[in-house]
Amino acid sequence: METLAGLLDAVGRSSGVTLSTPVYGAVSALHILSIALLIGGILLVDLRLAGIVRHLDEDAGRLLCRMARFGAGLAIATGILLLSARPGEYLANRFFLAKMLVVGVALTNAVAFEWMARRRAGEWPSGHYARTAGLVSLIGWLAALGLGRWIAFT
Ligand code: HEM
Repeated sequence: METLAGLLDAVGRSSGVTLSTPVYGAVSALHILSIALLIGGILLVDLRLAGIVRHLDEDAGRLLCRMARFGAGLAIATGILLLSARPGEYLANRFFLAKMLVVGVALTNAVAFEWMARRRAGEWPSGHYARTAGLVSLIGWLAALGLGRWIAFT
């Protein structure tokens, strides 16, 4: 953990992401934009997979997935930069650690789903597995959103 904190501290110093600077403000705004893209993209797809929404146009679904993928990548990149501003504090914060666990589960779920779809020549899996994957994704990303916001109050 100390090595990781040291590494993140070096990232923070070299990138200039220090609290109360315009760079921190810009990265924080980008983190929020990335979350909007991620959640905005994945929400309808998850509701469709879970069977709560009955119909989602296939092309629209693929576009929403692309948007969510881009949002997830940007959230990880900006999240690591935010983390580098105060690594010691975040790595000792149980809400931050819970958020990382939840993000890890949601990402693993997404990668597994995409892998299954690729094995079926791009066709989304259906049935029980799709319903479970949709619910895990929905709950996982919303929990990451809640935990991420809650860190500021701890
Ligand atoms: C590896 C991925 C990520 C890392 C390392 C990370 C890290 C961070 C850090 C350090 C903060 C600042 C916390 C604070 O002091 O208030 C933050 C804020 C936040 N994060 Fe993340 N994050 C990641 C991904 C995500 C994802 C995927 C979501 C949502 C689905 C998310 C949601 C939030 C929210 C809502 C905030 C609060 C923003 C605000 O109130 O200004 N994060 N994140």
